[in-house]
Amino acid sequence: MTEPQWLEAWPVEEGARRVDELFTSSFDGSPEGVWSAPGRVNLIGEHTDYNAGLCLPTALPHRTFIALRPREDDRVRLVSAQAEGVWEANLSDIAPGASGWGAYVAGVAWALAEAGHKVGGFDAAVDSCVPFGAGLSSSAALEAAVAVALDAVAGLGLAASDAGRTELVDATRRAENEIAGAPTGGLDQSASLRCREGYALLLDFRPGLSALESGVPVPFDLDTAGLTLLVVDTKAEHSHVDGEYGARRAACEQAAKLLGLDSLREIAPALGGMGIDRALAELEPHDAEGVLRRRVRHVVSEIDRTARFANLVREGRAADVGPFMLASHVSLRDDYEVSCRELDLVVDTAMATGALGARMTGGGFGGSAIALVNRADVDTVAQAVADAFADAGLTAPAFLLAPPSAPAA
Ligand code: GLA
Repeated sequence: MTEPQWLEAWPVEEGARRVDELFTSSFDGSPEGVWSAPGRVNLIGEHTDYNAGLCLPTALPHRTFIALRPREDDRVRLVSAQAEGVWEANLSDIAPGASGWGAYVAGVAWALAEAGHKVGGFDAAVDSCVPFGAGLSSSAALEAAVAVALDAVAGLGLAASDAGRTELVDATRRAENEIAGAPTGGLDQSASLRCREGYALLLDFRPGLSALESGVPVPFDLDTAGLTLLVVDTKAEHSHVDGEYGARRAACEQAAKLLGLDSLREIAPALGGMGIDRALAELEPHDAEGVLRRRVRHVVSEIDRTARFANLVREGRAADVGPFMLASHVSLRDDYEVSCRELDLVVDTAMATGALGARMTGGGFGGSAIALVNRADVDTVAQAVADAFADAGLTAPAFLLAPPSAPAA
């Protein structure tokens, strides 16, 4: 028996106290305020965001905290409980390719300025209980915390409405894509800034939608249903700046181009598209190995599963979504090829121990898996997963509980 390691979320007051103390011990005086933003889990809808598709995330109770004070000049000075020393730069020097963790922070200020907002320099202290590199969007949590902090100190007022928050999403996503250089699709930033406590958020990434259409909150009442969402951080290495994520994205763009479409979303017959069978037939002559067709089959089927999953949740039938989670995992494993041994082991073990559904969550290649379990079975499932990892000689995973939590504030 290997004791499962649980990773508790800090109460908001504790996170605030930590960054306040870190700020005052690193810089003279006090911060102007403290803000925070959550990591996320994606219930379903994986690798669909950059295909103009659907995703269904919830916010984690685990948050990244920032204490911040504006400066008179354009200098940015940052300290983090998770990093040595002070990260410093002038905002005017921030440009694509900036390096270090500060690029995620200064990048948000850069993107807000690019969007025409007046944002100056600042001192800030950061601390987080969102596990790093675990596929739970620690970088988006940092970006979103910076976005709401700068929104407040610069008096932009964007965080006050969902429509304004979509502008903050754009800024945080540009910071990640253009400054930090990770070609991600916007799911993580949208989740951190737009999810609501007690709800999942049905995101639709078709271009040109209003805020009302692009993010629809769906009540996700796990408690009443007697269910718990268990997250397992496999501790298997995971990174987006490496080539695999970009390669998947490029394959999707190539397939869309061969089909004469702007995005793979447009294959859907419901949007007047050609349907999956014709799309696969048209790709065949260009696709000797079948790779493009597998990628397309995943994306198109995943968008469909996400819509169906959201409908069940809307009807109060969260206990019935399990088969969609499993089908999503199988598709990500076999067609999209982004799973790994550790993720498969969580899913197989959870399903064998009574989970209603389980799947990898996030980009894959390591990171985390989720399992939907009856509340009474949480400890049994966690124990079985911890034992399976020990038996396989793998690093011990960490376990988190994920009630749908509040957005950046
Ligand atoms: C990562 C990216 C997101 C999304 C997911 C896969 O989390 O940051 O934009 O593409 O992978 O669904």
